[in-house]
Amino acid sequence: MSKITKVRDQAQTTMFGTYEFPSYEEVMDAYAKEFADYVLPKGDTIFGFWMQTLADLEFLDLELRGLTDEYKIDSVNRIVNFKGDEDFIRLRIAHLEKVKGKATLYTDLVDKFGDTNAYAFHNLYPYKGKFYPRVVRTLINAFKLNHNSLLLDPFNGSGTATHEASLMGIKSVGIDVTPMGIVLSELKNDLLFINEKKLNFLPKDLQNIFNEIENKRWKHSDPIIHKLMLAVYFDTVDAFVRTSRYNRKGKVGLFIEKLNYIKDCYKKMMEVKEKHKLKFESARIIEGDVLELKNKSKMEEIFDACITSPPYYFSIDYVGKDKIAYDYLGADMKKIESRYLGMKNSGQPKGNYSGLPPRVAMYYEDLKESIKNIFWTLKPGGKLAIIIGDSTVNGKKIPTTITTKKFCEEAGFKFEKLIFNPLLGARNRAIRGESVIICEKGK
Ligand SMILES: C[S@@+](CC[C@H](N)C(=O)[O-])C[C@H]1O[C@@H](n2cnc3c(N)ncnc32)[C@H](O)[C@@H]1O
Repeated sequence: MSKITKVRDQAQTTMFGTYEFPSYEEVMDAYAKEFADYVLPKGDTIFGFWMQTLADLEFLDLELRGLTDEYKIDSVNRIVNFKGDEDFIRLRIAHLEKVKGKATLYTDLVDKFGDTNAYAFHNLYPYKGKFYPRVVRTLINAFKLNHNSLLLDPFNGSGTATHEASLMGIKSVGIDVTPMGIVLSELKNDLLFINEKKLNFLPKDLQNIFNEIENKRWKHSDPIIHKLMLAVYFDTVDAFVRTSRYNRKGKVGLFIEKLNYIKDCYKKMMEVKEKHKLKFESARIIEGDVLELKNKSKMEEIFDACITSPPYYFSIDYVGKDKIAYDYLGADMKKIESRYLGMKNSGQPKGNYSGLPPRVAMYYEDLKESIKNIFWTLKPGGKLAIIIGDSTVNGKKIPTTITTKKFCEEAGFKFEKLIFNPLLGARNRAIRGESVIICEKGK
């Protein structure tokens, strides 16, 4: 007898003796349970439903290598058998839905935020070229980092690596050349420790704040609130350009909605923190140029790992697209462009690269130098993961991934693994996926 039939049979009859149907909710509940019997893996340590690709399987393998003493993946039945500290694994792993019958922390994040990436403050702002937080979490696990470790991201952008490390209780340093990246990374950091009351504003206060920002008069004594309102405003203005035709809320309405979203993220994150007794760490965010890392003598051989993603080579005006923000922040866009990998318009490559456009050759030279500098910052035995993709210039694919692997080996790294992560649904895009290159600095 199916569960749906059972629900019907258990339903009471009315006082007139007629049959009473189960409610819609009861039918759906029974249906969901029956459906789950067919689609959910049978076991107590099971794959996350978000595991969709072969790359995900490789990521799971990497994580288990870092987190367990022994493991076996049964990929057909989507289950894992392992030996190790199950409570610790449950708190850390990013590719399993349940460990020994209990939901993982990552499952709680996915359920609470309704998304596999937009949890905590990762979705604060749509920064171009952001990491998938899940991949960062995986690599932190693979590299066996703990609360005594120090992680570096010298192309930290909007701070995905530093934010994910903070959520996992791991210290980190993030460096980026753009002031917008710095504002966002700092905010993600600070919002984890803010007093909730500071985020309470009445709609009329927000209307005033919006007007003050529009009229370039916005100032607030608390630097976190000052930056938060600016970030929300830049996001609103940008989103409004795309949605104004059907956006009935107007700019101010959208601004308020976005701020409420951040408050909601805060609330949800604090609930997860409380439930799992998490201890967040604060990251150090530095505005700087990866090519000048060696001027910071205190950075020599201090990091246990580096997880990073340099700019991919595109003919896109990355800096120009944030013009409103940079005007507001009083940033010198020309100076940023002159340091931004792949955007340098003046100068000549030092070497001879037959066939490569000079701008691409200069990008490669800078990439090579960046990798040498990263090598210098890592402790012996330190780990590196670089996430990079190939792009197309004048109709020709440029082999950035394999060139990057070569640069790593030339800098002294031992190459360990390359995982190609496809961007699903992107068959016709310039970029079909990206690769994670994993290396180690010899001891
Ligand atoms: C692909 S994005 C990284 C995004 C980041 N993983 C995130 O999740 O937001 C590359 C970053 O490199 C930064 N960048 C470019 N040239 C740089 C340089 N010379 N030194 C430091 N950062 C640089 C850019 O500002 C950009 O944020």
